[in-house]
Amino acid sequence: MRKENKITPWEVSGEVDYEKLIKDFGVSHLKELPRVFDENVLFRRKIIFAHRDIQRILETIRAKKPFVMMTGLMPSGKFHIGHMILAQQMVFYQKLGARIYIAVADLEAYNARGQSLEESRKIALEEYIPNYIALGLKPINCEIYFQSERSKDFKKANAYYRLQNVLARHVTFNEFKAVYGDINPGKMLSALLQASDMLHPQLREFEGQIPVLVPVGIDQDPHLRLARDISKRVKGFTQLSSTYHLFVSGLGGGKMSSSDINSYIALTDSEKEVERKIKKYAFSGGRATLKEHQEKGGNPDVDVSFQYLKFFFEPDDEKLQKIYQDYKSGKLLTGQLKEYTIKKINSFLKKHQKNLGKAKKKIKRYLR
Ligand code: TRP
Repeated sequence: MRKENKITPWEVSGEVDYEKLIKDFGVSHLKELPRVFDENVLFRRKIIFAHRDIQRILETIRAKKPFVMMTGLMPSGKFHIGHMILAQQMVFYQKLGARIYIAVADLEAYNARGQSLEESRKIALEEYIPNYIALGLKPINCEIYFQSERSKDFKKANAYYRLQNVLARHVTFNEFKAVYGDINPGKMLSALLQASDMLHPQLREFEGQIPVLVPVGIDQDPHLRLARDISKRVKGFTQLSSTYHLFVSGLGGGKMSSSDINSYIALTDSEKEVERKIKKYAFSGGRATLKEHQEKGGNPDVDVSFQYLKFFFEPDDEKLQKIYQDYKSGKLLTGQLKEYTIKKINSFLKKHQKNLGKAKKKIKRYLR
């Protein structure tokens, strides 16, 4: 088996050893959390598994003080269930009272992937933002912006781009090389712009100094390391906090990717499409023959249908546990597990797609 892997903000490939990443990156395991967090599947099941400085956010919540949740996305292809993890966190923190900032990383997509600004805008407006809304994001205390067009309010826009430039003076080329390895001017500017994304809510043109939590996939940690190091050298910023979630497995294993249609379930997929994809492509932890499966049992830990139930579609812990055990013992067959997963996904999508129809009309209220 090919073990070689690569985890950088611009490339994720091969097998991911999360324990090794925690050590290499120097982030911490996410341990005990207040009850509201445990009520959320993503935290309870350790799908959000690591952090930097989450303590500051927990204290802020306890003291009923304001905080910001800031994150971003590079728009590409269809909005799929892998994108749902972040959307669910936006909604979760908004309900907790956080002010929500969301950057559409169109400039980063231009520099790192060669995708035009027009294409990014189109995908964000047609795919990502309507899905965020349909998943429960509300317009109050929420601003979504494009990196290439921060605000129509020139004072705010100036402050955001000014910060990117101010930050540049406080970092060296050697630090870039140490953090990213492979680096070029476009990626350097993207990294600095993302630092500004994460830090600018603290400028006086926005919220003023305030704790900011950045939920991201673990591949984004280099950006956080850089921004945290730089921000220590500039006055007026409370250190950033961050959390890290697991990657959602693609249907065939590996990371779910919008460039491979048979690796994902899109939130706009039809019932038939979901059925076809799960049956045909979802990697199974089952045995080669029925007899062998019943005798030796399957492996839910590598089974993709089971992962989807665990991440998104089976909120009931007891039911999930029973499925786990029955599959492991061989009592539950692969076909049955897939049928159940298809049913769960489709009942979720049916509701979601109804909301999605209404969401498109509301987009304007979220853009700044
Ligand atoms: N780099 C992120 C990605 O590839 C997108 C992003 C841009 C972002 N600005 C951000 C993420 C600020 C978190 C915070 O998806």
